[in-house]
Amino acid sequence: MTATRPRPLVAGNWKMNGLIKGVNELDAIATGVAAGEAGSAEVLVCPPFTLVSRFSAEAAGQHIKIGAQDCHAEASGAHTGDISAEMLKDAGASYVIVGHSERRTDHAETDAQVKAKAEAALRAHLVAIVCIGETRNERESGKTLDVVGTQLAGSLPAGATGANTVIAYEPVWAIGTGLTPTAADVKQVHDFIRAGLVERLGDEGHNVRILYGGSVKPANCVELMGVDNVDGALVGGASLKAADFLGIAAAYR
Ligand code: 13P
Repeated sequence: MTATRPRPLVAGNWKMNGLIKGVNELDAIATGVAAGEAGSAEVLVCPPFTLVSRFSAEAAGQHIKIGAQDCHAEASGAHTGDISAEMLKDAGASYVIVGHSERRTDHAETDAQVKAKAEAALRAHLVAIVCIGETRNERESGKTLDVVGTQLAGSLPAGATGANTVIAYEPVWAIGTGLTPTAADVKQVHDFIRAGLVERLGDEGHNVRILYGGSVKPANCVELMGVDNVDGALVGGASLKAADFLGIAAAYR
């Protein structure tokens, strides 16, 4: 660890969940953050596209940010059904997740595509949260660092800095399963990612936040967030309920 660590980020990925009435949950999260329940952490909610504009309006003036879960690499054009980073910025988003394993799997996204999306995010002045992580088979066959290293090298946007890029390490086998790596395993991968960032970005690599994601809950967040080089969490299921999400952010109180 370096002497000064970046401000931690606790991010909620709502995935394909949430209707307009979910604004009540967002309000409850914002109220908790305003009351200091998230301590020093920056708090971000990434709802589905349909809610980005509504949530951004709701979050205006509150200490909570809004992001999206994907973007197209181009700014505009004939891409039916796609959403560009510029559109997300226009709708009030300040972050966008790219390369989530569910997109890599469901939509066969490659590292090169993820990189192009992350660069689109930077072009639109959004912060890119670039997701990487190994499958169960890859872990069991001892390939975790190879896979994570290849994904990092292939997905990191040109011009990455601590201000515009976040890495999220999400072991695929830990997502939505209730399973988590041990603290020692998390440390090994996060230290490896940090070294890869410093190799590519020099000292700036110390400023890029590295989130852990995969079955983060109030019950395990203190241990996971206490690991060296873990600068926050990317939370799926537990981010849908304000009390659970705030309970995770409370690791930074
Ligand atoms: P869970 O927290 O539901 O395991 O999901 C993690 C995730 O995929 C966040 O992007």
